[in-house]
Amino acid sequence: MFELLKVEARKAVKILEKHEFARIFTHYDVDGITSGAIIASALLRKGMAFHISFLRGLNEGVESSDELVILADMGSGYPDVVSEIDADVILIDHHTPTGRIEHKRDFAHINPHLAGIDGSFELSASGASYIFAEELGDNSDLSSIALLGIIGDKQKIVGGNAEIIRKGVNRGYIEEREGLRLISGKIRDVLRLSLDPYLDFYSKEEELDDFLEKVRIDGEREFDELSRDEERRLANGIAIRLIEMGSYHGVIEDFSGKKFYLREELVKNCVMLSEIVNASGRKASHSIGFGICMRDEAYLSQGYELWRSFVEEIHREISRRREEIEEGECIRYLVMEDGVSTGPIASVFSRYLFADKPFIALNIKKDGKVKVSARSNRKIAEKLDLAEVMRSAAEKVGGRGGGHVVAAGANIDAESIDEFIKEVDRLCCIQLA
Ligand code: C5P
Repeated sequence: MFELLKVEARKAVKILEKHEFARIFTHYDVDGITSGAIIASALLRKGMAFHISFLRGLNEGVESSDELVILADMGSGYPDVVSEIDADVILIDHHTPTGRIEHKRDFAHINPHLAGIDGSFELSASGASYIFAEELGDNSDLSSIALLGIIGDKQKIVGGNAEIIRKGVNRGYIEEREGLRLISGKIRDVLRLSLDPYLDFYSKEEELDDFLEKVRIDGEREFDELSRDEERRLANGIAIRLIEMGSYHGVIEDFSGKKFYLREELVKNCVMLSEIVNASGRKASHSIGFGICMRDEAYLSQGYELWRSFVEEIHREISRRREEIEEGECIRYLVMEDGVSTGPIASVFSRYLFADKPFIALNIKKDGKVKVSARSNRKIAEKLDLAEVMRSAAEKVGGRGGGHVVAAGANIDAESIDEFIKEVDRLCCIQLA
């Protein structure tokens, strides 16, 4: 299945072999940080030096005077920015390629979409980075890091992703069990703090007690130690709660079936580790998530602290912003000033609380720039391509946008918010009609 990708990966290895140093730029989310860690580990094992930076996106270009630039988890949708780079470039991404890259020097482009694999659901950037790493040497232990990116980007365990996981399982790096993909901890904390699924128990202790009583599970038990029978009861309870909350039908399938434990990593529960890395990225402490993915224990306690403060902050923000949501004809949206974050909030609203329409979260930052996160869910995505909506609406108002069918984003100026929202609504109505 990876033949075409491997051809491009081998081309990338040839380019790499001309150099002793690589400048890596990667995205700041879990898929980006894990991609960076996979590439960095593979380079270190080859004795090659690197410098890595974590970017929020490519809309502002890349600054580098180095001879070899590796871009991960971003670039395929920004051909003009990539074309500007005056260096050998290895681009490893899973975003939908747009336009034409006019590279100045040697160039390799490892992207599942160019190899007949759907990069939105079937292969993450971490997976594409893993394929590259495999061409550099025996790096099969990094399959567990690839899995973190797959989980972090909410991809499906199918296609290329499933193949990478199979390899990790066969080599003993990944342990697969039946059950729910939830974070670690006492059941009570897991249900209160989980953001995916979001269960709306954060400040509802009594409801939580009732729920635990109904499913007959002691809230002080550790989630990772539940019996199959207990976990089944928990899954049923969660499924009912989500449907009552307004989530879409079949939502439970997004986080149930197989769950994974990572034998070589500092945190064994894959979802927990992915959430810690996510929090480090969202809280602009990328090096902590990166260090943990490089298996450096020194960063672990800070990672847990960051995760805890991040999820608590997001839960408080969700409660506070719920009242401020506005409704267009075909979208819901929220305009915040100096808000905590856009993506995690838009994900919760669009998947768990208001699953009938796509959700657009806009955050006006102090410099007058606006960060936009657009999210939908599996049901809506059957008809709607949010990446296309974000790209087109942002360009109409002089901004930039793109991403994936279910999770996309844009950067625009504050004065264009009204026009942008109107255009997003119009485009969504056309696609959803
Ligand atoms: O920032 P956020 O998590 O909302 O981004 C969602 C997706 O949209 C990411 O895959 C990101 O790369 C993409 N995006 C983009 N162009 C932008 C902003 C976000 O392609 N200007």
